[in-house]
Amino acid sequence: MGLGGYLPDEIIDEIRISNEIVGVISDYVRLNKQGRNFVGLCPFHNEKTPSFMVSQEKQIFRCFGCGEGGNVFSFIMKRENLNFPEAARVLAQRAGITIPEEDNPEESARLKEVEQAYKVNELAKDFFQYVLKKHDVAKDARSYLENRGIALETIDKFQIGFAPPSWDGLLQFLNKKGFSAAKLEELGLVLPRTKGTPGYYDRFRNRVIFPVGNVKGKIVGFGGRVLDDSLPKYLNSPETLLFNKSHLLYGMDKAADSIRQLDRVIIVEGYLDVITCHQAGITNVVASLGTAFTKEQGKLLLRYTREAVMAYDADAAGVKATMKGWQLLDDVGCRVKVVSIPNGKDPDEFIRRQGPDKFLELVNEKTLSLCDYKTDRAMEKFDIYTLEGKFKIASEVIPSIRNLSNEIEKDEAIMKLAKRLHLSPGAIKAEVDKNARDSRNNWGNRDKITGLRDNNNKFAVPGKAPKGEQDARSRAEESLLIMMLEDRDVLLTVKNAIGVNFSSRQEYLYIINLLNEMLEKELDYQPSALFDGIRDEPAAELLGSLMARDVPSENKTRFIQDCIKTIKEDELRKKREDLLSKMEEADKMRDQDLRNKLLLEYSKLI
Ligand code: CTP
Ligand code: MN
Repeated sequence: MGLGGYLPDEIIDEIRISNEIVGVISDYVRLNKQGRNFVGLCPFHNEKTPSFMVSQEKQIFRCFGCGEGGNVFSFIMKRENLNFPEAARVLAQRAGITIPEEDNPEESARLKEVEQAYKVNELAKDFFQYVLKKHDVAKDARSYLENRGIALETIDKFQIGFAPPSWDGLLQFLNKKGFSAAKLEELGLVLPRTKGTPGYYDRFRNRVIFPVGNVKGKIVGFGGRVLDDSLPKYLNSPETLLFNKSHLLYGMDKAADSIRQLDRVIIVEGYLDVITCHQAGITNVVASLGTAFTKEQGKLLLRYTREAVMAYDADAAGVKATMKGWQLLDDVGCRVKVVSIPNGKDPDEFIRRQGPDKFLELVNEKTLSLCDYKTDRAMEKFDIYTLEGKFKIASEVIPSIRNLSNEIEKDEAIMKLAKRLHLSPGAIKAEVDKNARDSRNNWGNRDKITGLRDNNNKFAVPGKAPKGEQDARSRAEESLLIMMLEDRDVLLTVKNAIGVNFSSRQEYLYIINLLNEMLEKELDYQPSALFDGIRDEPAAELLGSLMARDVPSENKTRFIQDCIKTIKEDELRKKREDLLSKMEEADKMRDQDLRNKLLLEYSKLI
């Protein structure tokens, strides 16, 4: 569904040129000029002091607080929750550019299909809602919901309905509206009969229906719950054109504003947890719908906040899902806390028994870090009074300590665990370090992620060297790339001096090659356009953070030459080291000829 497929590049360029970024963003954010840039309050997270920056020169925006960044298209995509073609249309309209629609019959057919699918879902929801409210067959369903404490207002707000027990109530209703059984099967509403006469029957029968909306509140699928203890308890729409469970969060459309305002999201597991929370006035709540939390869901949340509290069921499955979800959310860049609901309750039950205030108290004051949460769970499992028990508890918690990206947090976690296990902090620390050495792979991964975060931190504190050792070579590479993203001539100079493959970082090479492509294809040199082509999020994030930075230098030409020199020297140093070790090899093999050849080469390098 790539955009290139149907919006021609020339039109996209025209749209870009006609939508100057400061003007566009000013429609949403009050911007003030500050030096070369404009600043304002970030529209993607809640803040009191401005950390949102727009650069007119570079035609990009970036928030130092939440890390959002990109060009004018990315801004509209994120702000309006649109995909690229949709955002392009909005901007085209803003600039009075007409897009030749009928140019691409394939795309317009697809759009028609999507529209029709929404229409069918809307009608199905109306049908279920009507049945629940008015029909005799829904008597039990109505009292079921009443017994669960769900108010009529809430039923309306969440558009809850009921699927009648008959085999084809919905099928007949939608047939009459002109939709074929085949179409309805595609949307997961009916199933083909496997026995007897051929035909179809309703997927959802005799179930309370919870329509599932996307971020804009359009219905993409349904979940249905039985009224008793029969199984399966819930039945959901299958994956369809519209329903992609791993990308959805139940309640997101209703929670978005409040999540943004409170700068915090509470993540629960189930439909009824969300519904009960919202009914109780706690509206920054969404559910991951019982599936393991996915990266896409994490990224969706990041559009609104990075503070997440997980309030999953306290049963074994919930604990497991919490630990997995925590890691995932942490990896995408959320700050995650966990609450453990007492006595094995889920949020729905807890609120109904103890009231919303008690729940808020848990969420506000009783949250745990993952390490504490894991220690609690492990202490329930193992005997803390035996050495073996202590060892087992420690080995469940230590991997999470090791994963902490912040040294202070790490230290604190070590002290805490030591105290709880009555062991010396030194002993725990030794285990943490040992584990770190044992699991190289994990570390590699973490480094990449924290590396990106460090870029953000560094940005927030201009002039400060990043955490850890960044050697002269990588500083030089980084500075050159930053300057290339401003100025085509820098790319030319560097290319002539040392070529385009000078970096040892894969991510840098990727960006440099994209720039070089622009140069070679003699396209307009507009680095901000790179955002459109990058589908890989970390790469886009890196690009955003690099483009938002400036290299302070009195004398740029001189500085560029210095960077080039640093890289050249480092290359030479590597070559010499390589030759020396080869010479040692040759010595060992008593290969005098080879040794002399190598020596000659070596002397040329000095
Ligand atoms: N779920 C599902 N299919 C199942 C069981 C659960 O899709 N067979 C999803 C539903 O979204 C459900 C969530 O996982 O809401 C959590 O499951 P569970 O805790 O069992 O359900 P509750 O929401 O607590 O439902 P209830 O309170 O009605 O038992
Ligand atoms: Mn429940």
